[in-house]
Amino acid sequence: MQTAIIEANNIVKDFEISRQGLQRKSMRALNDVSFKLHKGRALAIVGESGSGKSTVAKIVAKMHKANAGQVLFNQRDINEFKGRKAELEYRSNVQMVFQDPFGSLNPVHTIFHHVARPLLLHNKFSKHELRDKVEFILEQVGLNPASETAQKYPHQLSGGQRQRVNIARNLAVGAQVMLADEPTSMLDVSIRLGILNLMEEMKSEQDLAMMYITHDIATARYLAEDIGVMYVGHMLEWGDTDEVIHHPQHPYTQLLVSAVPNPEQSIHGGTLAEERGEIPLWTPHSRGCPFAGRCKHVSEQCRQQLPPVVALSERHFVRCFLHS
Ligand SMILES: Nc1ncnc2c1ncn2[C@@H]1O[C@H](COP(=O)(O)OP(=O)(O)OP(=O)(O)O)[C@@H](O)[C@H]1O
Ligand SMILES: [Mg+2]
Repeated sequence: MQTAIIEANNIVKDFEISRQGLQRKSMRALNDVSFKLHKGRALAIVGESGSGKSTVAKIVAKMHKANAGQVLFNQRDINEFKGRKAELEYRSNVQMVFQDPFGSLNPVHTIFHHVARPLLLHNKFSKHELRDKVEFILEQVGLNPASETAQKYPHQLSGGQRQRVNIARNLAVGAQVMLADEPTSMLDVSIRLGILNLMEEMKSEQDLAMMYITHDIATARYLAEDIGVMYVGHMLEWGDTDEVIHHPQHPYTQLLVSAVPNPEQSIHGGTLAEERGEIPLWTPHSRGCPFAGRCKHVSEQCRQQLPPVVALSERHFVRCFLHS
């Protein structure tokens, strides 16, 4: 496989949760998280609410800074991209698509403006060329007729159409990496598939590297070659999507997968069960495996030490003492 466009190594992220005088209390939102994104491929990140999925994406997008570990973009540390120009360029290359398609659009500007602006960041166009280019991009994301869509304001579009505008902006800036954080979860079930198809097209035809955060295992299978399963800030299992879903090796993944009755069909609304047990608050001082409190195979070792990452094959990894 070609070298990764994004490579995250051993990311740690702490958030301050309270401060009393000089005393600060932190929680560890991510602990020793590593993954890669490749051109023309997608990595799905699944896991229950609060497991750290959005934090992973935000660190790659440079919206948060990791406390430890490293993110490489084309083998360069993203912290090296400093100063207005370098930051801007990085942000054009690595774009996020959020859950709420309205939130990232400005209600006072037309769709034309939203797509034209990123185009003008890097290029000079005549008025005529700009109009053609914007309409071409709107057509690419299925917003037809493009000349009419361009005149509209965000509130005049449906949720699905607004999400298409967000994706159009990724195209307009020439993004190479797209970080999609539950891009369809606020959309009506009937239009989700259209957005997923568009993302699949972007991935294959524009050769985008994608991160796809979701609660839905069926769509993860549809879109993503690779999957990572997160629990309380840790990546507990990852690798080839079909392999991980059909032969889950971590007790937590087994629980998640068994809760989806028919993974082929969950696209129509079924999502990962939020199997709620005792979910621990992870702090910089926590020890052991985060799943220990809920695991039926738990041993004393699991409570004391973070399990090592075990390679089951070239494309299947698990963090569990059962396999070490
Ligand atoms: N800016 C912040 N300040 C403090 N704590 C934060 C911040 N952002 C996230 N957290 C905490 O970090 C943990 C991980 O949050 P994150 O948003 O990454 O979860 P998630 O997996 O995306 O959840 P969801 O599925 O609900 O979107 C949570 O416990 C959250 O409360
Ligand atoms: Mg989230």
